[in-house]
Amino acid sequence: KCSRLELIPVIDSTNQYLLDRVGTMPKGACCLAEYQQAGRGRRGRQWISPFGSNLYLSMYWRLDAGIAAAMGLSLVVGVAIAEALESLGTEGIKVKWPNDLYYQDRKLAGILVEMSGQTGEAAHLVIGMGLNIAMPASEGESIEQSWTNLTDACDTLPDRNVLAATLINRLHDALSDYEESGMDGFTMRWNRLDNFLGRPVKLLMGNRVVEGIARGINNQGALLLETEQGVTPYLGGEISLRGC
Ligand code: ATP
Ligand code: BTN
Repeated sequence: KCSRLELIPVIDSTNQYLLDRVGTMPKGACCLAEYQQAGRGRRGRQWISPFGSNLYLSMYWRLDAGIAAAMGLSLVVGVAIAEALESLGTEGIKVKWPNDLYYQDRKLAGILVEMSGQTGEAAHLVIGMGLNIAMPASEGESIEQSWTNLTDACDTLPDRNVLAATLINRLHDALSDYEESGMDGFTMRWNRLDNFLGRPVKLLMGNRVVEGIARGINNQGALLLETEQGVTPYLGGEISLRGC
């Protein structure tokens, strides 16, 4: 399904590579690298990207319905990745709202959706994914939160090419479905995989903290938190387990 695939051993960031080439790439074009010199997460944070051990993948997507329709995209991508890994035999890989994959309460993969601009109605997006496969311990030391590897989540690692192809195909399918039907029917898929469903969490929004029980997502992709005031949807912020 991939319209074009660039395999680049050493790169600054696979997301940046595609962002710099918007307008020259067909929809669904992908970039895979072995090493990122400037791998990034949200808000300028660093994504630790050592050579040869993990997967760094980005896909270009033109969303004809515009940026308003991009809300919820990282959730759809997270579910697509978790389901892709499940289809390769892993068990217990979960999603964390709004943009991570977790295994046993540790971060396994992160998703970064960036926009390069709009032409008319269409939004030009780059969807990046960093998946830890076998992170060298020396590199992992600089990650300031709990993290894990795909090697811990499966008995036998899938072949690297099969893994990349499965992720790309599932990502492509999920983006096409999302474009056609939005989040319809998707909340159930999310809720099955939700790492925090029914658990006590803290939501941090700037200086504000809300504590409650995670109740999944609504059909806009907002996080639902139950407090004494009832169930409230939240569109932004970062969650962690209460007490962590
Ligand atoms: P959080 O994961 O804290 O909820 P987030 O999903 O918004 O937040 P980002 O800021 O986008 O995370 O990602 C960068 C963060 O991910 C870094 O601050 C670091 O803690 C962590 N990190 C960086 N590299 C890796 C990696 N290879 N594996 C797991 N975690 C990483
Ligand atoms: C997160 O921290 O949760 C998001 C991390 C996203 C990392 C991936 S690796 C491939 C792509 N290129 C980047 O520079 N970032 C994303």
